[in-house]
Amino acid sequence: MKIGILGAGHIGKALARLLAEAGHEVGISNSRGPETLRDLAERLGHGVRAYTNEDAARFGELVIETVPFGKYADLPSVQLKGKVVIDTANYYPQRDGDIDLGGLSESAFMARHMPGARVVKAFNAIHAAHLEAQGDTGKPLEERRAIPIASDDAEAKQVVADLIEQIGFAPLDNGTLEDSKSQQPGTPIYGKEANLKQARDILGRG
Ligand SMILES: NC(=O)c1ccc[n+]([C@@H]2O[C@H](COP(=O)([O-])OP(=O)(O)OC[C@H]3O[C@@H](n4cnc5c(N)ncnc54)[C@H](OP(=O)(O)O)[C@@H]3O)[C@@H](O)[C@H]2O)c1
Repeated sequence: MKIGILGAGHIGKALARLLAEAGHEVGISNSRGPETLRDLAERLGHGVRAYTNEDAARFGELVIETVPFGKYADLPSVQLKGKVVIDTANYYPQRDGDIDLGGLSESAFMARHMPGARVVKAFNAIHAAHLEAQGDTGKPLEERRAIPIASDDAEAKQVVADLIEQIGFAPLDNGTLEDSKSQQPGTPIYGKEANLKQARDILGRG
């Protein structure tokens, strides 16, 4: 699958490597332009391409947005329309400034700024170093580290669940975008090294 990644920080780089190694075509962007990403793309290998935000969004059949939450207004919403978009972002007021979410979950708020995008919250509750290291396709699903995912779009959620399995983790359906409040910073599952059964218990998703 062609995958566009918006953001080339800790999470963007980890996902670019894992997904490229799993056989996907990856295009990645940052805030400073593709010329600043050429070395990274070369290091990652597997034909990873450096793009602008707009081009990465256009390129991806699926797009991952993994920029700091406060940068939501910079996302190329026109190019994201109709696409499955994974939202990894967490809202940290000390980093992102005061943002009124209007009582919405972080991802439901984000989705409002991407009209027509099929938003799936995933990879927000795992530390980047663990994402790099803990996937293991050799393990049965039940024993793998669980990744909670949430979306209002069941088909989009399934696409993301398949990707998560391909990179050695176990997807755990955590309901709708509003339900994703239970995987935000400060919740029991956030950053927790839990396998599928443990994560189901923590989230009450038995
Ligand atoms: N780090 C973790 O362990 C972790 C775990 C789960 C979720 N998250 C969440 O995932 C998101 C990304 O985290 P991170 O740790 O990967 O961040 P990071 O290391 O600080 O990297 C942020 C990336 O976003 C890019 N960026 C910033 N503004 C942008 C814009 N307007 N357009 C395009 N790219 C832009 C930056 O590009 P430049 O360098 O060019 O500015 C950089 O490549 C955050 O919301 C974070 O809370 C992080």
